[in-house]
Amino acid sequence: MEYRHTPVLLAEVTQQLSLQPGSIVVDCTLGGAGHAKRIAELIAPTGILVGIDQDEAALKAAEDALCLGQQVVLLKGNFGELDRLLVEAQIPWVDGFLFDLGVSSPQLDIVERGFTYQEDAPLDMRMDQCGPVTAAEIVNTYSESQLARIIRDYGEERWALRIAAFIVAARARRPVTTTGELVDVIKAAIPASARRAGGHPAKRTFQALRIEVNSELKVLETALSAALKWLSPNGRIAVISYHSLEDRIVKQLFSEGESACECPQGLPICACQKVPILRVLTKRPIVPGQDEIESNPRARSARMRVAQKLADPTSGESR
Ligand SMILES: C[S@@+](CC[C@H](N)C(=O)[O-])C[C@H]1O[C@@H](n2cnc3c(N)ncnc32)[C@H](O)[C@@H]1O
Repeated sequence: MEYRHTPVLLAEVTQQLSLQPGSIVVDCTLGGAGHAKRIAELIAPTGILVGIDQDEAALKAAEDALCLGQQVVLLKGNFGELDRLLVEAQIPWVDGFLFDLGVSSPQLDIVERGFTYQEDAPLDMRMDQCGPVTAAEIVNTYSESQLARIIRDYGEERWALRIAAFIVAARARRPVTTTGELVDVIKAAIPASARRAGGHPAKRTFQALRIEVNSELKVLETALSAALKWLSPNGRIAVISYHSLEDRIVKQLFSEGESACECPQGLPICACQKVPILRVLTKRPIVPGQDEIESNPRARSARMRVAQKLADPTSGESR
């Protein structure tokens, strides 16, 4: 099946990363190489593009889209293990990082991957198909309180308690193994009057399960912290997120990188020794324009934040 994914904020990404021939760039969410292909062109002929994805199908599609050579390194892995991946690939430093978070269109569109609430399929949701935990395992083994917590925290679903209780009651009759069965349980749990607002009733619970299956928020924090260490002076990092939980993590981490001494007020001398290492280039996130949203509705919720590593962290100034 053809891998179709339209890269989001493509022009803005390449402009914000300020790429030059010879730059070393790591695309941590390679997908079908929509961004990576353009990046590779801009850093040629001497630059290096490293593309990481945990999804075998994405890597295969990227391999077909990119001209592989010494300047392109594709790695199967989780960006939560960025340090190990970059050390093993013998990358000396990185001038630009891109994280285009979440799932790709093919992951959503290939029904058997079990991400979509629109069709009936095995309840899977693993981006890495060798990953240890499927959504079915979570739905059928987590305690009621664990389910309620993830549906509330990761789905921001106000009916989390009821949905968790209904799941536990349903699985006591027989295991919930397909997306369709889960959608029916969620619909039964949410009162009809509430179901009419806020999009598909299963949207938030499916988001929550997807985040839990793929440990999305945990690995994001680890990866961003690692990426900041690998960035060269003046190197840039761009992160596109698609929901507020991810965006909050990015905003928080960038703002910590930008901040200086965090000692409580009134201390006679600084005890934390903290100096700014970053300058945030996007005080407000960059969002797609109306034209992009019309031609690619999946771009609707995208927001990109960009930061630059300071040339001399002690000075607080980038060159
Ligand atoms: C939104 S798509 C990226 C699309 C890509 N920018 C393009 O234009 O073709 C996100 C991709 O990141 C991958 N991904 C998400 N989280 C990941 C992680 N923790 N480690 C590695 N890959 C990840 C997904 O498998 C998916 O292929």
